[in-house]
Amino acid sequence: MSSANVTALILAAGAGTRMKSDKPKVVHEVLDTPMIQLVIAAAEKAGCERILTVVGYQEDQVRAALPQSIECVHQPSRKGTADAVVVAADALADSSGYLLVMCGDMPLLRSATLRQLVAVCQDRCMAVLTAHVENPSGYGRIVRDDTGSIAAIVEDKDASPSELAINEINTGIYCFALDGLFDRLAKIDNDNAQGEYYLTDMVKVCRADNEPVMALQLTDAEEAHGVNSRAQLAQAGTLLQRRTNEKLMAAGVGIVAPELTWISPDCQIDHDVNILPNTIIAKGTKIKSGSSIGPSSRIYGANVGADCVIEESIVRDSTMGDRCQIGPYAYVRPEVTLGNDVKIGTSVEVKKSTIGDGSKIPHLSYVGDATLGTGVNIGAGVITCNYDGVKKSETIICDDAFIGSDTMLVAPLTIGKNSITAAGSTIGEDVPDDSLALARARQVNKDGWVKQNRKEG
Ligand code: UD1
Ligand code: CA
Repeated sequence: MSSANVTALILAAGAGTRMKSDKPKVVHEVLDTPMIQLVIAAAEKAGCERILTVVGYQEDQVRAALPQSIECVHQPSRKGTADAVVVAADALADSSGYLLVMCGDMPLLRSATLRQLVAVCQDRCMAVLTAHVENPSGYGRIVRDDTGSIAAIVEDKDASPSELAINEINTGIYCFALDGLFDRLAKIDNDNAQGEYYLTDMVKVCRADNEPVMALQLTDAEEAHGVNSRAQLAQAGTLLQRRTNEKLMAAGVGIVAPELTWISPDCQIDHDVNILPNTIIAKGTKIKSGSSIGPSSRIYGANVGADCVIEESIVRDSTMGDRCQIGPYAYVRPEVTLGNDVKIGTSVEVKKSTIGDGSKIPHLSYVGDATLGTGVNIGAGVITCNYDGVKKSETIICDDAFIGSDTMLVAPLTIGKNSITAAGSTIGEDVPDDSLALARARQVNKDGWVKQNRKEG
């Protein structure tokens, strides 16, 4: 379809009542991506030059879930799928070529299918994507004539018993030639069981014009999976999970237990990354070759270098170099940048900090609003006291500094290069380079005190 000029129109004005939700249906997430974004991604990948979305019900929430480049058309009242296309007439007045009409609730549709549908439409007015399903109830049925051409699409609620038995269904995805489309749509009435203007009636209108209706049958009916209920939303998640994992494994990613691994389809994961069970890798994450993620880890929008190990940990919106070790039980919060060979160890929390090559925070620490140079060693139980109850302050720890266990670093604070803080110190003043900072009460041993003061019995 490289040369064809294709615009996509995504119908998303409906209420989605069966979800029983305060949110509009199309913003519900499948593998942590709002459904409508998956539909948009398929349209983009198919080469659509322009994408419009028809919005109505709770449109503010739908608009908020759309990427900037997507145009919205408002449908004032939901009079049916044909009306939803008609409201886009002004926006499409100067467009030519094809219009792909899609539903916002079909997150499994592939871009290759959309491209094929446009190819099938060729220079005809209409092509419809159909599928053979075991249980066609609820869908519009494809009625074919003696020659096998599409004669009509009959809605479930309008169908006769013999039509109800047809198991070829209308997926609700169409390609229309824009030339003459709105003149034809004007001929559709709402004389049917639901009193709606059915887009499916375009079949009748085309046939009346002696225009054949083209059809593409899905080979993988899974693509037609529509989400109307919470159960179907969960099924869509499972199907997309399987599809994503299979694609990654085919590209050389190790996934030990695919059914216990949830990876967002837009992640970039290199070959020879190994993913252990109970792991979620969310939108926007990139992981380089040789890294091991999991078990039981959650990575949200992170950049992970090569040969890293992230074990039983959470990483959010952060970046790390190569050979970093995270966990077990570490929490790397947003805006953390790690160099190469950094260790964020057991039960360590790091937030909004930059940590240089080879620095280590092996155990039980909190590091926030800090900048650590290279080769810094942070002892167990160290805390950057970055918050005084009013404002956050920064801690700077220069190259090769050694922070003794259980040091409280009261920010704002700078620890000089190669300096040491004594274990158990509360450091509130800057420490110059190459120095030892000791800030704790001197120990007093009282000889014989226990025997004198604690009588047995
Ligand atoms: C529609 C088709 C049916 C097909 C099914 C596939 C019609 C008449 N029927 O039925 O043949 O098998 O899809 O899923 O088209 N929408 C609007 N504005 C409206 C009405 C609907 O934007 O005024 C949007 C909805 O938000 C939804 C899509 O259009 O995304 C489909 O509408 P819906 O009412 O769910 O159609 P179905 O009854 O499922
Ligand atoms: Ca309906």
